[in-house]
Amino acid sequence: MKILVTGGAGFIGSNFILYWLKNHPQDLVINLDKLTYAGNLENLKDIKDNKNYSFMHGDICDREIVDKAMEGVGLVVHFAAESHVDRSIMNPSEFVKTNVLGTQVLLDSALKNKIKRFHHISTDEVFGSLKLNDLSIFNERTNYNPRSPYAASKAGSDHLVKAYHVTYGLPVTISNCSNNFGPYQFPEKFIPLAITNLLEGKKVPVYGDGLYVRDWLYVEDHCRAIDLILEKGTVGETYCIGGLTQDINNLEVVKKILKILGEGEEKIEYVKDRPGHDRRYALDWSKIKDELGWEPLYGFDEWLKKTVEWYKKNRQWWTNVKNGEYKTYYKKLYGRP
Ligand SMILES: NC(=O)c1ccc[n+]([C@@H]2O[C@H](COP(=O)([O-])OP(=O)(O)OC[C@H]3O[C@@H](n4cnc5c(N)ncnc54)[C@H](O)[C@@H]3O)[C@@H](O)[C@H]2O)c1
Repeated sequence: MKILVTGGAGFIGSNFILYWLKNHPQDLVINLDKLTYAGNLENLKDIKDNKNYSFMHGDICDREIVDKAMEGVGLVVHFAAESHVDRSIMNPSEFVKTNVLGTQVLLDSALKNKIKRFHHISTDEVFGSLKLNDLSIFNERTNYNPRSPYAASKAGSDHLVKAYHVTYGLPVTISNCSNNFGPYQFPEKFIPLAITNLLEGKKVPVYGDGLYVRDWLYVEDHCRAIDLILEKGTVGETYCIGGLTQDINNLEVVKKILKILGEGEEKIEYVKDRPGHDRRYALDWSKIKDELGWEPLYGFDEWLKKTVEWYKKNRQWWTNVKNGEYKTYYKKLYGRP
């Protein structure tokens, strides 16, 4: 089978390609990626000479390139997106372009090329925000209520994917997952930012009061879930994918990282809150558990320790990333280097 992965040079996409070639070595994988600030081919250096892997540099908004990438493909796994909420607040238009229009270009081409399955990767952020003491939890039937330009653009792309299934019969599946963490995550995101700042001797910026609750999904568990959806999932269906975390807030996550690294709480620095910051996300993943038999391999603490180990061992990787465009962005957001 020939598979097109979009955004395969990013965090989850590159983990997925590495996972896929290890578990399906007979398949051919094409990685179509624009290589924005978030795309990094270093993530894939171990497979760059694998004859079953090829890289195409291009934009998912470019119909010509997308049609070329789609030739002879059976399966599309669509990760490519602008993915960072803070950046969407600074520059929403790039998010609408890639996440909404880019997805539509892919869907058109998938129809034209009679793709057997189009799997779209989405987020729990499309469901909006829960209250701290609320017992409710998002699931596949929750109404959409996106609150940031990022979440709104992802919601738009989800609706288009569903509409192409209903209107044109395109065989699609969608997954809405919680916050991922693990190797090769760009250090603008919360967990790698905390780990790498501490490894550099810096403080960890924590937004507002730090009591923002997220569900955390280890990236390899996510890749296994996508694999199962592709193998056994029902066409036209959505699956929520979450981790083994029970309402952990950001402050508690930072304290766990401080403990693993043997650092004290004086390394926490409270910074001005993000506008419209969603208080709590919580995700019910019983559908994928009951129907497809998926669950995370380990709990949050164990995966977090493994993640910290990875960043300790791969200092060169994140030092290179932090020395690039990221420096300017960090200064703009937090007001200092
Ligand atoms: N990281 C998370 O915690 C998380 C949680 C839920 C959902 N998601 C979703 O998972 C997907 C992957 O997220 P990620 O964290 O790996 O993102 P990322 O920002 O690390 O990577 C995105 C990749 O897409 C590429 N890209 C961006 N615009 C493109 C374009 N126009 N054409 C082609 N390639 C383009 C980038 O170069 C990069 O390689 C996204 O769709 C995101 O919305 C992520």
